[in-house]
Amino acid sequence: MANELRFDGKVVIITGAGNGLGRSHALLFGSRGAKVVVNDLGGGHTGGGKSSAAADKVVEEIKALGGEAVANYDSVEDGAKIVQSALDHFKRVDVVINNAGILRDVSFAKMTEEDWDLIYRVHVLGAFRVTHAAWPHLRDQGYGRVIVTASAAGIYGNFGQANYSLAKLGLVGFAQTLALEGAKKNVHVNAIAPIAGSRMTETILPKELIDALKPEYVTPLVAWLCHEDCSENGGLYEVGGGFFGKLRWERTKGKTFRVGRSITPETLKQSWDDVVSFEKADHPANVNESMAPILTNVQAGPSRGGNEFIDVDLALGA
Ligand code: NAI
Repeated sequence: MANELRFDGKVVIITGAGNGLGRSHALLFGSRGAKVVVNDLGGGHTGGGKSSAAADKVVEEIKALGGEAVANYDSVEDGAKIVQSALDHFKRVDVVINNAGILRDVSFAKMTEEDWDLIYRVHVLGAFRVTHAAWPHLRDQGYGRVIVTASAAGIYGNFGQANYSLAKLGLVGFAQTLALEGAKKNVHVNAIAPIAGSRMTETILPKELIDALKPEYVTPLVAWLCHEDCSENGGLYEVGGGFFGKLRWERTKGKTFRVGRSITPETLKQSWDDVVSFEKADHPANVNESMAPILTNVQAGPSRGGNEFIDVDLALGA
């Protein structure tokens, strides 16, 4: 295909690539010239067990298509070993796709510490360890792309997924900070919140949806975000079933009281409609934009004739 977006010579690590979304990503990168590290622990979808079969099968599929790939069976909790496997086999690492995941869905009242810890360890600690081990290589070579796999459950909340929601929205904040830290070195970090039929969702979604929401609908976004032509950095995207959209924060214009006035719960109650109305809103894209109206107000100081002075803690950003 003319103008095909290729990954020739690039080394791509995909965690949890033995099934579902990770497998789909691995096949696409493998078919476009990348050397792929197909990582998968090969356990069950709630975190138990271990097997080399899942990763091996995907490696075979990539090779059958004429691509290059190697299997790795370490848990993402041993992230440094996964990166070492890329260095041992292919001498470099260019792209890290943090995709491995499990579920331990249960209402918060019944959630055990094990449910909480396992989800944290695979999704958060795993993404930290893999990305942290790859980071110096990406920075030093002046090119790198990292994806974290978030979820609508993290963005909006979802019944029975307090552990998973924390992990998935945590990954968004993680990606946004890494995006700032990596930008100067051409290391871009983006987050996706996918929806796809997989063994993870087959117990939750009806069969028609599982069949329709193919993982292959998500992979083109991952590939584009990881390509060197793509300048997107620090974004969050919802994707699945043919839909691709970007998210951002929206904040109401709110209500600002001049400092120096007495602000009581009653004053706030009276102004509550202004605080919560989205009729006028803005979209702060970073911490500076977030703090701008607060600092402007504080710098304007007390209004003349204001009554009681309120102490404003200027140690913002602490
Ligand atoms: P899947 O269950 O088909 O694939 C996940 C893979 O991760 C499995 O092959 C599993 O063996 C592997 N894995 C689990 N723990 C691991 C560990 N400690 N180390 C290495 N590999 C490990 O699930 P699916 O649906 O493909 O999910 C992929 C990612 O997308 C996950 O992070 C999931 O949370 C996320 N996601 C999926 C959604 C969906 O609709 N399928 C929705 C939102 C997020």
